[in-house]
Amino acid sequence: MTRQDYDGKTCTSPAHLASIAAVPTHAVFSLRAARMGLRPLLLRGFIMSDLEKANTPRLKLKRMKGPLRRHLAHGWLRAICSEPQRDGSPGGDESSSPPRQELVLPGPGPGSTTSECFDSLMAAIQDAASSGLYKLSFVIDETHRVDADARHGMLKKRQLDDARIAKIMGGKDRPLRPDRSNDLLRTIGIMNADGTISAKNAKKYKQVNHLVALCRPSWERALRNRPESEGPLRVLDLGCGNSTLGFVLCEALRLAKIDYRLHGIDVREELIESCIGRAKQLSDDFSSFSVERIQNGNEAAHRHLGGTPDLVVALHACDTATDEALALAIRAGVQSIFCVPCCQAELAAQWTESARDESSADGMTFPALVQHGLFRRAYADLLTDALRVEVLEACGYTVQVVEFVAHEHTAKNILLRAHLARGPQAPDLARIEAIRSRCQALAINPALLRILAAHLA
Ligand SMILES: C[S@@+](CC[C@H](N)C(=O)[O-])C[C@H]1O[C@@H](n2cnc3c(N)ncnc32)[C@H](O)[C@@H]1O
Repeated sequence: MTRQDYDGKTCTSPAHLASIAAVPTHAVFSLRAARMGLRPLLLRGFIMSDLEKANTPRLKLKRMKGPLRRHLAHGWLRAICSEPQRDGSPGGDESSSPPRQELVLPGPGPGSTTSECFDSLMAAIQDAASSGLYKLSFVIDETHRVDADARHGMLKKRQLDDARIAKIMGGKDRPLRPDRSNDLLRTIGIMNADGTISAKNAKKYKQVNHLVALCRPSWERALRNRPESEGPLRVLDLGCGNSTLGFVLCEALRLAKIDYRLHGIDVREELIESCIGRAKQLSDDFSSFSVERIQNGNEAAHRHLGGTPDLVVALHACDTATDEALALAIRAGVQSIFCVPCCQAELAAQWTESARDESSADGMTFPALVQHGLFRRAYADLLTDALRVEVLEACGYTVQVVEFVAHEHTAKNILLRAHLARGPQAPDLARIEAIRSRCQALAINPALLRILAAHLA
């Protein structure tokens, strides 16, 4: 018997061929028939020399061409060709499977289109479908799309109607509606190109809306305490990463019809490049980004925002970068601070260092708190944030400590929301001194006090 290669594997018999999961049944019949010297008419396309083809379903693009042309007669935004859902993941356990391959073909936009444009779309989807991207979606506008499958050529109209929107929003009136904020939701990776939101991203969708709700009091405070003549609200995002928070915030401000400018800084060049790319994708002319250290953030704000920021946001800025952000805001007299601290290694490390010195725990009411690693880290976390709150208060801020997201999502779930109730004030040095002496008793020297040493002298 002739050995044949099928999909990179060498087949020695029909049974072997059948055992290769992806091979369609008709290919196996074809191999059996070929061994018997037969070439049945129905199976001619699948004789052994052509087995490679057997794994590719016949495309029915011709069938859908006419109806599709009618659906797209008034233009379309984009077409998406993607892999079908993989076996074994109905609805998709997306966290464990690799991302589905997808090709997004930009459309001519709304309005009339030409037959050349439609023909080149058909040619492009023919190519995509031939390489396995059978699932097709044609986004006509933000609420209408047509879905198809290149393997059967049937079209299905889909509409993002009120019922569907209410379902996505979980029955609540959320600020970032899927029909209104779709550009943002797609850019930050929550919405798919075809306008759907996967089960995994539905959770993220709720989280970013929750974030807007949490941040609203911060920008409202900042706006309340500044004269209108000051111009747009100045927002500085410190340690912005890829600025998901920044873009979400911009969208919320835009929806609230608030004139704003946002500047994001981060030390990582590639992240800043990605932020600039995202801003371009969103045609957002009110956000800017630069590679900068947080400690230079106020100078960057003056350069890019035209003055001291009204609102500083710092979301999960690593370890003492959070202290740099708070110190910057305190020194500059920033009206409103929205800060979610990150991991806090500093105090625990100071205790580990001083643990060699037996007398270091003398000032501790409960020395076990620093003697055991688990306690030490949890205690250091809480103490770091408690100290931040005390220092902010001593510098004239009113501080709220709020749960950021439920504890099961992340341990870094404390939000410090602070504002200057009566405008910038000189720090209360007696209060700062009391904080310092308590720190001494606990054998710690927190970053925030060190960074602000000159300001608090
Ligand atoms: C955990 S990420 C959070 C990013 C973003 N804020 C978010 O929540 O998605 C922390 C970011 O802070 C940046 N960072 C840390 N220390 C910094 C510093 N001293 N100056 C500027 N950026 C800093 C890191 O590069 C990183 O992108």
